Amino acid sequence: MYSNFTSGGRTSGGGGGSNQQQRKRRLSSTTSATSGDNADSSSGSSSESESESSTSQSTVKSKKATYSTTDDATSAGENPTPDETLSKYSDIALRMMSKMGYKKGRGLGKNETGRTEIIEASNQRGRRGLGLRLQGLDGKTNSTWEEDEEVMIKQDPQWIPTNTSPAPALDDMYQWTNMSARKETIDDEFQFCEAEILKGVLASKSVFDHLGHSEFLRARTRANPYETIRGAIFQNRAAMKMAEMDASFDDMFTSHHDFDEKNPSSLLYFADICAGPGGFSEYVLWRRKWRSKGFGFTLKAEGANDFKLDDFKAGTPESFDCHYGVKGYDGDGDIFREDNLREFRSYVMQNTDNKGVHFVMADGGFSVEGNENIQEILSKQLYLCQFICALSILREGGHFVCKLFDLFTPFSIGLVYLMYRAFEKVCIFKPVTSRPANSERYIVCQKYRKDVSSIHDYMFELNCKINRLKGSNIDIGEVVPVDIIKDDEPFFQYIYNSNNEIGARQILGLKKLATYVQNTNLVGANQAEVRKQCLEAWKVPTAARSNPSNRDPDNQFEKIINYSSAKMLSTRPKPLSQDILSAMKSIHDYKWTFSGGERFYLFSLGRYSIYQWNPAKNSAPTFKRVDNMNFELPRHTILDVEFVYELKGDGRGQRKVMGVHIIDALQLGDDYIGDKPMSDRLKIIRNFIKALSKPCRSDIIKLRVKDYHPLTELNDCLESLEEKTMKPRMERRLACIFNDQKYFVPNGVYMIRRVKDPWHLQYSKSSKRFYFYNRKTNESVFEPAKSSIADAKYCAESRVQWLWADGTGLSNWSALNSSISRKTFVDFIESKN
Ligand SMILES: C[S@@+](CC[C@H](N)C(=O)[O-])C[C@H]1O[C@@H](n2cnc3c(N)ncnc32)[C@H](O)[C@@H]1O
Repeated sequence: MYSNFTSGGRTSGGGGGSNQQQRKRRLSSTTSATSGDNADSSSGSSSESESESSTSQSTVKSKKATYSTTDDATSAGENPTPDETLSKYSDIALRMMSKMGYKKGRGLGKNETGRTEIIEASNQRGRRGLGLRLQGLDGKTNSTWEEDEEVMIKQDPQWIPTNTSPAPALDDMYQWTNMSARKETIDDEFQFCEAEILKGVLASKSVFDHLGHSEFLRARTRANPYETIRGAIFQNRAAMKMAEMDASFDDMFTSHHDFDEKNPSSLLYFADICAGPGGFSEYVLWRRKWRSKGFGFTLKAEGANDFKLDDFKAGTPESFDCHYGVKGYDGDGDIFREDNLREFRSYVMQNTDNKGVHFVMADGGFSVEGNENIQEILSKQLYLCQFICALSILREGGHFVCKLFDLFTPFSIGLVYLMYRAFEKVCIFKPVTSRPANSERYIVCQKYRKDVSSIHDYMFELNCKINRLKGSNIDIGEVVPVDIIKDDEPFFQYIYNSNNEIGARQILGLKKLATYVQNTNLVGANQAEVRKQCLEAWKVPTAARSNPSNRDPDNQFEKIINYSSAKMLSTRPKPLSQDILSAMKSIHDYKWTFSGGERFYLFSLGRYSIYQWNPAKNSAPTFKRVDNMNFELPRHTILDVEFVYELKGDGRGQRKVMGVHIIDALQLGDDYIGDKPMSDRLKIIRNFIKALSKPCRSDIIKLRVKDYHPLTELNDCLESLEEKTMKPRMERRLACIFNDQKYFVPNGVYMIRRVKDPWHLQYSKSSKRFYFYNRKTNESVFEPAKSSIADAKYCAESRVQWLWADGTGLSNWSALNSSISRKTFVDFIESKN
């Protein structure tokens, strides 16, 4: 599906839209031929800001124009008469000229022997000096652009017909590689497009070579109907390309078929590679918030565009984990390195339960200034390595989108062919947010097929070869023989047509830009209307990008949680007593977990801006900033936690770090979960922790969710505590050990009532399952009634703590300093079971 509306091209002072040639634009076009590709995507580049300031909406609205191409006498080179020339000047200008001695028809100078014509202001702009005439930009000031432009809002993807044959065998593919002398020219590469298109693209790229940068940007700002969309609520324009592509492909990425957005225990895994500063990811993280877990990989070398997580204002940077290959967070992020590719793969697999990600986005690019025509050749290893990386971390059924530039050489086409064999569907797509005059386009691959690992392995080997050949005059020319590509008629025809179509748009886009450079009065489509419709179609708000405040937690907290519920945050657990045991009808009503440190409620205003509930007596709620604790939480998260010392090693080699152990939660990001049953809340919190975990960041405090057990398991768990020697006094303490070998010293047990009174959970021996019993109504049901749900508030208020000692932990059970001994408690549980 696509929608569009027609915008007549206009010049200031020109008539309406008459004499316009109807030309439909089904595919959008292209962008700047100079180094614009990178500037296109990166935030804060001077090009972006310049273009933003040079056109205002009011200009667009007030000026009327038509796209029509007419030359006037001046631009045709005829000499105007002095009268004609003078008529162009205002009275004031004429008076000034007269004061300076100018007389109509007489020569300048004391003896009136100088030139008789006025020295005209130059039509040349920017770096073009007086008198210089550029081919294609020859000083015509009122050239106009005749086009009835159909502005596309949403384009229909055109897929290459599917190839269902199995993946080629690795040994066969090894035979496909064709080595040749290194080639850095492109003008003879017309096997996959019409020769005229290639010539046209290359020739039109050079039209702007001598143009001043700001002059070019100003023209582009007016000529491109989509220019004022900019980054919308995101950090850069690139983010909007992803928003557009996601919408154009029916939310294929952010609503992946294996991601259940209604089930808060399901996570959407993605990777963003060659991706700094991270606009693509900001878009995904905005759409799915912490329910999306991203892995970022990009070049980290000095001067490179690393991820700017502080600018992920619309999304949740907390669930975005940057990894740079070998040495993890401290790596260099160079995707060309084989060891980096391996390392990143292993990290992603380890952190996705060995399944891989649902989709990969890749947007690699680097400056090719001065070599725009061979950008494709210079980017060949980048294309290859982004493909390898994606194939190595995608799960079956996963999707991939990757930026490409021109696609004229057999090398690039061969890579696209291999992707076409690895996925169910492949498409070459140029979003409208990608500027009309550049060669940028994206390959979009849907549903990674199974049993195609040979394609990945082949590509990996190709990259090893390229790395080995660096510095030599030999290079890989073909990765798939051209005959094989041409024999696959549907594939070949698709690529040929796509190149012709995108090439033609690019040439047209460049011509349009040239016309706008010449005539600075030209104004294009109604950009405000285009922006509005695009954002609506791509489901992005029209609001301005905002910077959410990370201060004033009291006020912000009260906006999301009403003050009466806030009182629960101050509730302390009741100490376990004989009375509590006597009142306990069913031991199954409770679950327990070890306690081990100070307990707080935390409230986050995003990333490291975390506050703890610390109410002053008889006053309004007061949150105190948590200092010296390096961990992140998405904005508006409210957690019930313990700060616990975690230890590693024993005796003198012991190391101590702070850990955050989550007991319960009211809200995760903007998702309120406080009203869900306890078991559901815990499941969601576990998922949340998975999304937030950044194992390669040794500087970030680990978050853990408490393990809850039935009371029937209490004795076994107490038995499993291990003795450890504590520094500095070398006392022996009982410790609870985690899977990663870290441990903590428990100081007691929390018991949480998991069904709400008067409901009890009881075990039916006859049906061998638990059922809910209402002691007031005598009702018995297997499925929980709504009134039996123990929400977070109830759990907090009915919590009981069996506190053992003074907080230093137990050396042995006889040291237990509590009104209830271990034996009393264990015997009680036994008697009730
Ligand atoms: C156009 S920018 C990506 C913009 C990004 N998609 C966004 O939304 O902000 C291209 C990125 O490719 C990265 N890149 C270029 N060469 C690379 C390489 N060899 N390895 C890893 N990243 C690379 C650049 O450093 C840059 O961050």
